[in-house]
Amino acid sequence: MMQALSLFAFPWLFKAGTSLHLNVTAISARDGSSTLECWQMNQPFDTSTEPGISGTTQVSLGAASSLSYSILPPNFDGGIHNAPENQWVAFTSGLAHITLPDDNATSAYITGGPFGLIFAADTKNVSRIGHRTEYPGITETVALRIPTVDGEVPKHRVLHSGPCGTSEIAGIRAYGLPA
Ligand SMILES: *[C@@H]1O[C@H](CO)[C@@H](O)[C@H](O)[C@H]1NC(C)=O
Ligand SMILES: *[C@@H]1O[C@H](CO)[C@@H](O)[C@H](O)[C@H]1NC(C)=O
Ligand SMILES: *[C@@H]1O[C@H](CO)[C@@H](O)[C@H](O)[C@H]1NC(C)=O
Repeated sequence: MMQALSLFAFPWLFKAGTSLHLNVTAISARDGSSTLECWQMNQPFDTSTEPGISGTTQVSLGAASSLSYSILPPNFDGGIHNAPENQWVAFTSGLAHITLPDDNATSAYITGGPFGLIFAADTKNVSRIGHRTEYPGITETVALRIPTVDGEVPKHRVLHSGPCGTSEIAGIRAYGLPA
């Protein structure tokens, strides 16, 4: 009984043994056209020892060269564009819809919040015209843009083409259970 209780009380302790990897939707490029892919980070989640978040789950995503905060109004159309540089984009609220000018068979809806992280890597040198982002929500969309140092792309493997599905990103939920 005690054991069952303690496992239940500290789900991250017994989960820590398994190696969970973050999956993110990426805007990549192939043969000069932008693509959508589901990437799995090579770096697994680990357990932080930092004061304030000690014992909780984290994963390092590498170094950032700058950070900016953007507010996109409802129904804003960002048009077709390339990623200005390799960057993380963390949507914290609202809704983004990413489509591909050269492939109308796939698209991604990214909801702001815990599953709002993507990586954009379709820079001009790898994609002729890039992708289109529209913001069809009824509220503003807030995005943190986080370019990586020296344009570094995080080490990853491609799980499949097309955006990550819900079951591929919801794994973090297990670590957010109340203690
Ligand atoms: C999607 O692209 C294909 C191939 O370019 C084209 O034949 C088709 O009409 C397009 N469909 C839509 C809905 O735009
Ligand atoms: C394309 O340009 C980006 C920076 O804009 C750079 O980080 C990346 O290494 C370049 N890729 C290739 C294949 O040249
Ligand atoms: C990432 O994808 C793998 C394979 O589908 C899955 O086992 C894992 O739980 C996913 N990670 C998260 C954080 O959901």
